[in-house]
Amino acid sequence: MPKILILYYSRTGNTEKMANAVAEGARTVQGVDVELTYHATPEQLKEFDAIIVGTPTYHHDTTLDIKMLFEEAAAKNINLKGKVGATFGSYGWSGEAPKLVIEILKNKFEMNVTEPPLLIRYTPDPAGLEKCKEFGRRIAEGLVKAQHRH
Ligand SMILES: Cc1cc2nc3c(=O)[nH]c(=O)nc-3n(C[C@H](O)[C@H](O)[C@H](O)COP(=O)(O)O)c2cc1C
Repeated sequence: MPKILILYYSRTGNTEKMANAVAEGARTVQGVDVELTYHATPEQLKEFDAIIVGTPTYHHDTTLDIKMLFEEAAAKNINLKGKVGATFGSYGWSGEAPKLVIEILKNKFEMNVTEPPLLIRYTPDPAGLEKCKEFGRRIAEGLVKAQHRH
């Protein structure tokens, strides 16, 4: 069964609301395993077929935890090539973080990026939460379809 990791950080709860909705959407798809967490080790990343990172933007940047995780994964030569990568996050005005992280997933780890980063300003409203659910659902469906091609 394809496994999806939704790894997020959130200081004031906005990205967390998004993460819960992304997980809810992904879980509507049969035949995928969805893990929602705010902590993972570089080695754990290898266990998943898709890695979805939720990061708010603070001071035009992603969080130190997320930076360290991928720095460490790179230093340990953790192979994530060909896995599905995606990012999302709440922001206030510039929203760089999900864009920075998707570049790392794509360029450093050669992950397969099928969705642009999903950005929502401040607290997601019902329409925003719906976008998050759809985002999670599309990624999960993509994995199930890819599995059937093999
Ligand atoms: C100290 C501070 C710095 C911030 N810097 C940025 C920034 O550089 N760019 C941006 O788009 N939003 C910025 N924000 C807004 C946050 O991204 C926004 O409040 C977001 O909803 C926080 O998400 P969270 O609830 O998941 O922590 C900043 C907020 C604070 C409190």
